Amino acid sequence: MTYQSEFEHSIDKPIEFWKQQAESIDWYKFPTDILSKDSNGNDCWFADGELNTAYLALDYHVDNGRGDQLALIYDSPVTNTIEQFTYRELRDKVAIFAGALTELGVVKGDRVIIYMPMVTEAAIGMLACARIGAIHSVVFGGFASKELATRIDDAEPKLILAASCGIEFDKVIPYKPLIDEARELATHKLQHCVVLQRPQQVALMGDGDLDWNEISKTAKAVDCVPLKSTDPLYILYTSGTTGKPKGVVRDNGGHAVALRYSMKSVYGVEPGEVYWAASDVGWVVGHSYIVYAPLMTGCTTILFEGKPVRTPDAGTFWRVLDNHRVNVFFTAPTGFRAIRKEDPETKHLKQYDLSHLRTLFVAGERLDPPTYDWLKQTLKVPVVDHWWQTETGWPIASNLMGIEVVDTKAGSSTFPVPGYNVQIVDENSKELGHSTEGDVVVKLPLPPGALPTVWGDHSRYVSSYLSQHEGYFHSGDGGYFDADGYLFIMGRTDDVINVAGHRLSTGEMEEIVASHPACAECAVIGIADKDKGQMPVGLVLLKDGVNIEPEALESELALMVRQQIGAFANFKRAIVVQRLPKTRSGKILRQVMRKIADKVEFEQPATIDDPQILVEIQDSLVSNKIGYVGNQ
Ligand code: COA
Ligand code: AMP
Repeated sequence: MTYQSEFEHSIDKPIEFWKQQAESIDWYKFPTDILSKDSNGNDCWFADGELNTAYLALDYHVDNGRGDQLALIYDSPVTNTIEQFTYRELRDKVAIFAGALTELGVVKGDRVIIYMPMVTEAAIGMLACARIGAIHSVVFGGFASKELATRIDDAEPKLILAASCGIEFDKVIPYKPLIDEARELATHKLQHCVVLQRPQQVALMGDGDLDWNEISKTAKAVDCVPLKSTDPLYILYTSGTTGKPKGVVRDNGGHAVALRYSMKSVYGVEPGEVYWAASDVGWVVGHSYIVYAPLMTGCTTILFEGKPVRTPDAGTFWRVLDNHRVNVFFTAPTGFRAIRKEDPETKHLKQYDLSHLRTLFVAGERLDPPTYDWLKQTLKVPVVDHWWQTETGWPIASNLMGIEVVDTKAGSSTFPVPGYNVQIVDENSKELGHSTEGDVVVKLPLPPGALPTVWGDHSRYVSSYLSQHEGYFHSGDGGYFDADGYLFIMGRTDDVINVAGHRLSTGEMEEIVASHPACAECAVIGIADKDKGQMPVGLVLLKDGVNIEPEALESELALMVRQQIGAFANFKRAIVVQRLPKTRSGKILRQVMRKIADKVEFEQPATIDDPQILVEIQDSLVSNKIGYVGNQ
């Protein structure tokens, strides 16, 4: 099989192609309606199929001879714990916890928020919801109470599953006070909070709080509930251009087919192999490639509670790869930049055996060429930069390790994955030829697995993704194809930034900065950072007559963003400026300021109100030592 034939098949005959892929999973009712329109007029996959994702991830393997194979290894250097669960053990735990949820009145279609660190119970909670058709919404443990409250109000969950604390390096972060505050802030009221008590910080329990282990002791195992292919499996909130995150909805059928296909074709992984995605269950990588895809494929997945460095050292990734004989590894480039900084000569690597590692995949941000070269030299295995996003749930472009391996090019995520008709268009939606940068879009229909809607707000789905270029899904990334058809993703064209592999909205940070009493107007931009990819910087115009030391303002704003979004936003720099550059119609020229800070060439917009302001901004950045321009 060649890449070209597989890709053309998927684009020319999508129904035939995806029907064939659907045959690789075990449906209760195989769909006859492969591609149709849903009630919103959207393309919809496998509408009349019936299945259960938790069944495919667990029971199917127990019923088909994998019951005693390891399903999940929990490796936690921050608690000095390694635990292993066979498919049978994990299935039983999930079935019992699903029983506990049922006894609490959770039924098909109810939402359940999961606010947990990287512990096995987070995966058990997700799979237990999937088993009974409840819709989980995992919220990354680094989010502050306000963010959690926003998600509670949007998803309107019946209950929340939590742990008493998370552990960041050697810091114990109590979760329960954050949850209690979020419940106070939210308008929607939850029935219960189920808490997994961890010995590092036991939570104080209040009215309606339940102990995870107590409710599991008495619960009876329940079976998988048959679900429609189009029933939602989960909602995952992601940053958009405004302060309100978007609830990306994932269905059951398309998701299962797409993930199973991706494991075979993109990752080249076989059942029985060991697959490790070092990310967090709070992000899409965690959903797709820590929990669902490896389990649906019959692999052993690793759930790692630690960081690439300082848990306890920069050799921790190599230790896990060796200990658990990992075949395929996936993480974000930022983690490797952190390792390279602490251990540039990879001294730690020398004590480990990585001979079973076949391929390294990276995503979440652009793989910068120096890190790519360092990884290739260090690991001596193919390094695959692949591009995707929360919205798609699985890779849009990659080197297809299970179909045809091609030469890679530094800075490129190689070719579109079968199913994704990727095009580059200009602002008038005209398809562009190679080597010309434009908006990266996907011609409709999107393949199975990609989001069918935004939770509770289909009009937001249309306005965010479909209305910019009619007939195409708008990815929000800019990029180009080179003359050989390699795709280069050059970064977001909207107000989304990527800080240490975390997707954040500058619009949301601007709302917080603007709420400071001294601030008349502001802009937050993401500027290039050699370790974290990008870092946010605030540019603030003070109200007339306000007298505040710039350093004091900077610390107050940093604290506000930390308290309202979370520490991982890394908002540390804010400077006072006299004016902000705008177009004549009043739009702030954020991309231009970003390019100035990054010392990237740019064309002065013809519509700029006063070009002199750009010189002033550059001077302010230089005098505050911000960005590459400030560090020259
Ligand atoms: N809970 C609470 N706080 C968290 C957190 C979490 N889950 N994650 C990060 N934070 C905090 C950190 O403790 C730190 O706090 P501090 O300012 O008090 O020191 C702050 O947020 C900044 O965190 P971060 O930017 O992540 O820096 P770091 O030095 O803690 O770690 C990396 C750097 C590269 C190791 C880490 O960012 C990383 O592993 N990133 C990869 C992300 C990822 O997997 N993305 C998915 C795409 S594959
Ligand atoms: P998220 O939804 O959090 O997975 O973030 C998705 C965004 O991360 C994309 O829209 C890109 O901007 C960026 N991204 C992810 N993978 C890559 C990659 N391989 N190359 C460049 N950018 C990437």
